[in-house]
Amino acid sequence: MPELTIAIAKGRLQSEAIDLLKRAGLRIPDDGLASRRLALEDESGCCRFIFIKPADVPVYVEHGIADCGIVGRDVLLESEADLLQPLTLDIGRCRIVVAAPTNNLSNGFGTVRVATKYPRITARHFGEHGQPVEIIELSGSVELAPVLGLADYIVDLVETGATLRENGLRIVEVIAESSARFVVNRASYQLKAKTMARLIGAITEVK
Ligand code: PRP
Repeated sequence: MPELTIAIAKGRLQSEAIDLLKRAGLRIPDDGLASRRLALEDESGCCRFIFIKPADVPVYVEHGIADCGIVGRDVLLESEADLLQPLTLDIGRCRIVVAAPTNNLSNGFGTVRVATKYPRITARHFGEHGQPVEIIELSGSVELAPVLGLADYIVDLVETGATLRENGLRIVEVIAESSARFVVNRASYQLKAKTMARLIGAITEVK
């Protein structure tokens, strides 16, 4: 039975997270990575890696199914999970922004309609500005919503800015900067202190 289970967010962070863990000395088998398997063990059998949707990483780690994980700050801001965040990683850099069509002339009065995958971040942000908001929750391709008239604004991730640009949108406001975090389950941090300290030390050296 592997001593540690490490949750890795699938998608935009996945390959950088795997590279980082490999540089930190974990031996993740390439043939396993090339397969569709969602759980893999490292070559020594001491670590298990599980590949899950970003929003599910905090859930698995909070419940202790995974001892630790790598996930974006954007996901953590949206999640209410109670996790330790001992390391900020220099991968997965992006911004969470409010964006609108370049030709949007809305004056921001009255209720605005905002499409997003991040309903909590959106509610908090517009709430802090005292701006009434109708949140339209989507699960992807959010940039399409204002183009087709479903929303006035979006709250979404911007990395290169290409998706905004190619869909005729511009940044109105930056809500937060994001990069990946190494997160740890509170109990695992205590109960597996030695192993965890070794792993955190190894990642710190190469991050
Ligand atoms: C994210 C985000 C934007 C895009 C931004 O979507 O929601 O759509 O990437 O990246 P860019 O600034 O480099 O263009 P993702 O690719 O994760 O897919 P999704 O739309 O299905 O959520």
